[in-house]
Amino acid sequence: MHNIFLLFFFSTSYTCFENLSNELLYEIFEYLDACDIYESFSNLNNRLQSLITSSSLLLRITLCLKSSSLFENRCQHVIIPNSHRIRFLHFHDESLINTFFDHYIIDSSFHRLESIGLHDIKAEKLLTILIYLKSLPRLFSLNITIMDKSSYDLGNIYSLIFSLSSLKRNEVGTFGNKLPRIISHLTNNKFSMIEYMVIHNFFTLNQLNSLLHYTPQLRHLFCHGVIESDKKFKKNLSMKLLHLKYIGFEEVYVSFDEFKVFIKEISSQLQIFRIGTYDYKNYLDGNRWEQLIKKYMPQLKKFYFRFTQDIEDDRKTNLIDSTDGFINRFNSPFWSERKWFRELKVFCEKMIFSIFPYKKQWTDLREHINTGTNSKQNSIEDNYISNREKSDHGIIQLTIEFHGDSDLDWRFIRRLIPTIKAIQFTHLNIENESISINMLLNILRLLPHLESLKLLFMPKRLFEYLSIEHTRNHLSVPITNKMTKVKLGQVTEEQEIEFFINLFPQIEHLKVHCLLNTDVPLLMKVILTNRKTRIPNLCHLCFDFCMADENLVRTLAKIIDSETVNDNYTIQRSGNKISVHWKL
Ligand SMILES: *[C@@H]1O[C@H](CO)[C@@H](O)[C@H](O)[C@H]1NC(C)=O
Ligand SMILES: *[C@@H]1O[C@H](CO)[C@@H](O)[C@H](O)[C@H]1NC(C)=O
Ligand SMILES: *[C@@H]1O[C@H](CO)[C@@H](O)[C@H](O)[C@H]1NC(C)=O
Ligand SMILES: *[C@@H]1O[C@H](CO)[C@@H](O)[C@H](O)[C@H]1NC(C)=O
Ligand SMILES: *[C@@H]1O[C@H](CO)[C@@H](O)[C@H](O)[C@H]1NC(C)=O
Repeated sequence: MHNIFLLFFFSTSYTCFENLSNELLYEIFEYLDACDIYESFSNLNNRLQSLITSSSLLLRITLCLKSSSLFENRCQHVIIPNSHRIRFLHFHDESLINTFFDHYIIDSSFHRLESIGLHDIKAEKLLTILIYLKSLPRLFSLNITIMDKSSYDLGNIYSLIFSLSSLKRNEVGTFGNKLPRIISHLTNNKFSMIEYMVIHNFFTLNQLNSLLHYTPQLRHLFCHGVIESDKKFKKNLSMKLLHLKYIGFEEVYVSFDEFKVFIKEISSQLQIFRIGTYDYKNYLDGNRWEQLIKKYMPQLKKFYFRFTQDIEDDRKTNLIDSTDGFINRFNSPFWSERKWFRELKVFCEKMIFSIFPYKKQWTDLREHINTGTNSKQNSIEDNYISNREKSDHGIIQLTIEFHGDSDLDWRFIRRLIPTIKAIQFTHLNIENESISINMLLNILRLLPHLESLKLLFMPKRLFEYLSIEHTRNHLSVPITNKMTKVKLGQVTEEQEIEFFINLFPQIEHLKVHCLLNTDVPLLMKVILTNRKTRIPNLCHLCFDFCMADENLVRTLAKIIDSETVNDNYTIQRSGNKISVHWKL
């Protein structure tokens, strides 16, 4: 492969490569693996030879199973002779690690080495290697994946890692055995300089506590999971982490009270906090979170919270069915002032409640406003938007992901009815499979506060329902009157649009995703006719159509001009999206 690469580079049309300055060539080499550089460029000519052997070119080397046939050769001719120039050395295979360290050691001759990766290594081997790494003066980053079925003690491993005096980044993963490892008490007498620590493992709070005691410089901490131990968490070492800005936990399985004792010790500078938990209902108390954040996380800017509940098992659903609706306990101004949104997602027999910082939603109007129009108009529109955004603070989104088996899907929804009814959802997203129109109407009936609806697909058996009286009787008027934003996926027929126009007379914002065979001009006509009579508030319309081009924009503009008189509107295309914006 490298030879072909070479042929291209040095055939006549590519002689320009050699016209590049040394600085540029160095920069290109920085991106290449040193073994590839040596195999491709050595002994070609004096200039290249002196470039690739120059002491100012530092080398990066990644060794994986693919390279095993060349491995001996690479060790002898690239790694060992250049040990003083290697900056980055990563191994991705146990047998390569064993072969290398059976013959060589990484000692002070690798004095420029900054990053080491040892993936798929046995714990015992790792302990012996770590001892040698102490002699490296510039080792900033150490990335380890331990694959070991036998039992070992992470305490010893972390003791050695913390004794590496220049280490700033450390990532340790343990795979091959799901059980958490014993961490004996660490006995370092030195503090580590680590700033960035990632742990793919489960620890108890006491174990984490004893680790964090040695990392006073820590800025970023990710730990996969926290589990309960028979001993309650007791703060017995000082672990004031005055630089810690990021904490992430994927799975927390300890009581909120215990977790709180731990987290408040280390969160005084925290800016980003991610936490996921399963089935521990006492995390679902907005007031307690609010107190904790206000008192102990004064710098917090982004909060990502995820609570997952399995609803497969009938007995478990009761956990969540508190009559007041747990999301309502996250209803105080504290949450809306920070623009932290709430979502309940139901999918695959699971229910996930999450809180996350503001992110752009399809219901945001900003993307539909033409920034090129005159500035007075823009400021009016900006006011309109910011008024809307104020009212958006109360967004509570329900997302339901269906997977095709409607009986099954409906059984899960039914089980959640008390929860769903207790929460004032304002946004509904229906994802993946198309559901029957009956099921959609049944869901809508549970949600009298909805302002927006997003359907990824058109409902099935929609046409059986075309009698609008029938449909409206099925829903109550207040439900249909609140809905102002509607996004419809995979629309092909004008009747589909008409159905939703009839259903929601207050529509202001309509987004239509069309398929290849959709007659977009026809849809435009239908919408314009209805705008005069049924949906007078419509002010934003967007077609998402893969064949959108300037011709279509002109066609649609002509239709608007001929169907309406004195209509002030702008039309613009951005990629596949054509938006029309009427000035009210
Ligand atoms: C590029 O290098 C070749 C010889 O390596 C030389 O003949 C040619 O004039 C150089 N071109 C430029 C633009 O410097
Ligand atoms: C550590 O290695 C893993 C696996 O190669 C990689 O996904 C991860 O990004 C690395 N971490 C760091 C901090 O470089
Ligand atoms: C801290 O607590 C842990 C677990 O309870 C215990 O093993 C350790 O010895 C204690 N350390 C000190 C310094 O008291
Ligand atoms: C369902 O849709 C969501 C959002 O579009 C997507 O992320 C997810 O992968 C889909 N799942 C399946 C099973 O199609
Ligand atoms: C449209 O805008 C122009 C100027 O911006 C104004 O003079 C005119 O009255 C508007 N027409 C309607 C129907 O509002």
